[in-house]
Amino acid sequence: MSKLFTIFGNPVSHSISPLIHNYTIKSLGAKACYTRTRLDDGAKIRDRFFSLDISGANVTVPFKEDAFLLCDKIEGIAKEIKAVNTIVKKDNKLIGYNTDAPGFYESIKEFDGIKSVLILGAGGTAKAISIFLKEKGLNVTILNRSEKRLGFFKDMGFEAYSWSDYEPTSYDLVVNTTSAGLKDENLPLEENILSNILKDTKYAVDVIYNKQTPFLKLARKLNLHTKDGTDMLIYQAVLAFEIFFDRKYKREDIKRYIFEALALL
Ligand SMILES: NC(=O)c1ccc[n+]([C@@H]2O[C@H](COP(=O)([O-])OP(=O)(O)OC[C@H]3O[C@@H](n4cnc5c(N)ncnc54)[C@H](OP(=O)(O)O)[C@@H]3O)[C@@H](O)[C@H]2O)c1
Repeated sequence: MSKLFTIFGNPVSHSISPLIHNYTIKSLGAKACYTRTRLDDGAKIRDRFFSLDISGANVTVPFKEDAFLLCDKIEGIAKEIKAVNTIVKKDNKLIGYNTDAPGFYESIKEFDGIKSVLILGAGGTAKAISIFLKEKGLNVTILNRSEKRLGFFKDMGFEAYSWSDYEPTSYDLVVNTTSAGLKDENLPLEENILSNILKDTKYAVDVIYNKQTPFLKLARKLNLHTKDGTDMLIYQAVLAFEIFFDRKYKREDIKRYIFEALALL
């Protein structure tokens, strides 16, 4: 029987997940189709799963926390992150996972000797990445524009600062998880402070994909090794695809087809 997959979000029309998953499904000869579903209310995810007989789904902004709450069971790092970006239906139960964080980790494996990381931003992506990196034994600091989201990180034992109480220092890796640079040409932090941090830093990653953001441009100017969020996107999709099909297909094949799909853009 053919399976139905979808991505839940709002907005969701820009998502490239249907392209990369459908291309991979077709290339592997799987019997499935991947669509997109815009919702006004994340609480409806559960109802849609059962009324449309969906086998699996990705979840994007702003419903990852809703998805965490409505699953019957949570697996892996999603328990700590309290946000779910991948759901499968098994025996009529919804099982939730987070593949953003391990996807990010895969994407930085090529960088040697990372021990200390500064994360710019304190939203959902910052939570996922920081918790995963901390579990891997890295020393993670959070720096956010405002104070309001820092409580979560302080409660989890992170060093967490707002712009007003931060003293610049150096790190092995700086990650931009803010949306500065996504639809504008803003830096995620005042230029002098950011330059001060980056001048002694080895690597810079922006989770925004397919774009040389002002953050990455500045880091390149200061001779850092840089990378955008494309690899993170690819790896989170590879891990989700493995979960959707219960690890039936080889990771290397899934990765190759997802790369091929992205080249079509
Ligand atoms: N590559 C991938 O696979 C992937 C996966 C997931 C997400 N992403 C990207 O990650 C980014 C963040 O997503 P999210 O869900 O974590 O967002 P979010 O939960 O809305 O958090 C946004 C964060 O950015 C900060 N911010 C927003 N505009 C800013 C600005 N102009 N200057 C400085 N800080 C600013 C906010 O600070 P305040 O707290 O002060 O408001 C907040 O900490 C998006 O660009 C998204 O596309 C990429």
